[in-house]
Amino acid sequence: MRIAVFASGGGTNLQAIIDANIETIEIALVFSNRPDAYALERAKKHNIPVCVIDHKSFGEREDFDRAVIEAIEPYNVDLLVLAGYMRILSPVFVRAYKNKILNIHPALLPSFPGINSGRQALEYGVKYTGVTVHYVDEGVDTGPIILQEIVKIEDDDTEESLLEKIHSVEHRIYPEAIKLVSSGEVEIVGRRVIKKS
Ligand code: GRF
Repeated sequence: MRIAVFASGGGTNLQAIIDANIETIEIALVFSNRPDAYALERAKKHNIPVCVIDHKSFGEREDFDRAVIEAIEPYNVDLLVLAGYMRILSPVFVRAYKNKILNIHPALLPSFPGINSGRQALEYGVKYTGVTVHYVDEGVDTGPIILQEIVKIEDDDTEESLLEKIHSVEHRIYPEAIKLVSSGEVEIVGRRVIKKS
C-alpha cells in the first residue's frame, strides 16, 4: 500500500513508522499544513517526497481540504495516516478517502477527545489513560477503533511525564495498526474493527 503521512509538528510518530520498516507499505508522501514542521526534515532525510500547503492562505476549511486532495492526488495513495496533524478534516476530505484515513489519539477514546488529552486526563483524575488508533470518520476522534493500549497514571506524573509515556506507546502501536490495515488483516464491521475470518 502507498501511504501518505500527515503531520503538523515534530513527527516522532512519523519517525517510528519509518523506522518500523513495514513490509506492506511504501511511504509515498509526507504532507504538512505547516512549512516549519520538523516532520518535513525527517522525511527529507529519508528521501520521502514532501508536500506543504499552508492552511493560513485559505479562508474556508473546505477550500483548504480541496486543495490538499488535489495536491496529493498524483501520489496515488491508498491510505492516509494522520500523525500529529492538527487540522480537523472536513467531510469533503473524509468522503474522498472513506475508511482510508487513520489517526492516533493520546487517550483511551471515547474519553478525552480533542486537544490536550493528557492534561484533560490529569485534571479529571483518572488512574489510567492510554492511546487509541482509529479510522477517521466525520466526527472528531469518533471513528472505529483499531487498537488501544492503556497507560497508568502515577501520583507524581506531570503532563510532561505522562505525554512521554504515551508517546512511547504510540511509537509501538501506530506501526502495528498500520501493519494490520495495510496487510488486509482487519475489516470494519459496524463500529468494530475485527480480524478477518
Ligand atoms: C501525538 O501525541 C499524537 O497522539 C497526537 O499528536 C502527537 C504527535 O506527536 N495526535 P509527533 O508529532 O508524532 O511527535
